[in-house]
Amino acid sequence: MKLLITGGAGFIGSAVVRQAIRDGHAVVNLDALTYAACLENVAEAAKSPNYAFEKADIRDRAALDRIFAEHKPDAVMHLAAESHVDRSIDSPGDFIQTNVIGTFNMLEAARAFWQAQGKPAAFRFHHISTDEVFGTLGETGQFTEETPYAPNSPYSASKAGSDHLVRAWAETYGLPIVMTNCSNNYGPYHFPEKLVPVVILKALAGEPIPVYGKGENIRDWLYVEDHADALLTVLQKGELGRSYNIGGENEARNIDLVRTICTILDEKRPKNAAYADQITFVTDRPGHDMRYAIDPERIRTELGWRPSVTLEQGLEKTVQWYLDNEAWWRPLQDRSGVGQRLGVKA
Ligand SMILES: NC(=O)c1ccc[n+]([C@@H]2O[C@H](COP(=O)([O-])OP(=O)(O)OC[C@H]3O[C@@H](n4cnc5c(N)ncnc54)[C@H](O)[C@@H]3O)[C@@H](O)[C@H]2O)c1
Repeated sequence: MKLLITGGAGFIGSAVVRQAIRDGHAVVNLDALTYAACLENVAEAAKSPNYAFEKADIRDRAALDRIFAEHKPDAVMHLAAESHVDRSIDSPGDFIQTNVIGTFNMLEAARAFWQAQGKPAAFRFHHISTDEVFGTLGETGQFTEETPYAPNSPYSASKAGSDHLVRAWAETYGLPIVMTNCSNNYGPYHFPEKLVPVVILKALAGEPIPVYGKGENIRDWLYVEDHADALLTVLQKGELGRSYNIGGENEARNIDLVRTICTILDEKRPKNAAYADQITFVTDRPGHDMRYAIDPERIRTELGWRPSVTLEQGLEKTVQWYLDNEAWWRPLQDRSGVGQRLGVKA
């Protein structure tokens, strides 16, 4: 297939680009190269004759029309988004513009192209979203695909809005879509403002390791390469119009996740004190959802997909990757806002 992948210079999008190229697909990577982007993430894939890059903004409809007409994709995998909850608290407008208006533009450009092509049945618009659209869970229960939407942050509200647009474009215009909502990802090439890389890099720098509130919030951690595999599975085998939740089957409290990373570092990069001594509890995020957990039943039974690594295995690989790839993360620490506490203005 020829895949038009948006956000392919970001964390998850680049993992999808790398796997798609390995699998023999042709890829057009469409990315505006915002602060969160890094073309080094796809440097190997970019050597392939099957790879093309388009620097474009999904808020620019004319650019999208040109890219569809020029590349004639068989499918779209739409990952481009503003993705950091803390930044959405400080600057919600950027999230509405890219995640809502940008997705609207993608849908309209895809619909115009699909109609002009004679509405090919095999065309797919795959919208990639988050489990945060479902809001927060208490101590028990899991999100299913039928869980009502109840987003709590500007980020999750903007993603919920985009999900509703995608659903409406399928119902109203018949656009052939599939949709996925996944849990928290981690792994190589994770931008150093998100929890897992923040912990690793603060630990290595000998600085306080910030943990929001009491660290009791629970997330269901998904290794990014497993996620990329799941996304390509849903794109190719998912039922038309259906949505799938993707989880890592790895629930952990933030504080336990942070301690596990510290223990891995104690083994891999020993020093005279335990890294866990650097853990510092800081002001909680406003509106911080307590618990997310995915019921993976649908993707497991209908598509036969399960994650390949446990949290311990995935964290071990991730810590090793950051130890081996300082040349990747060091320059990113100079980008705006990285290393600072954001999202406490509310
Ligand atoms: N990271 C997670 O844990 C997670 C969990 C669930 C869902 N998601 C979703 O997965 C997708 C990818 O997330 P990520 O963590 O890789 O994000 P990311 O921030 O690492 O990457 C986003 C990419 O989108 C690009 N982009 C941003 N605005 C753009 C615009 N206006 N036009 C074109 N490109 C633009 C950026 O340049 C960047 O390369 C997002 O849609 C996000 O909502 C992420």
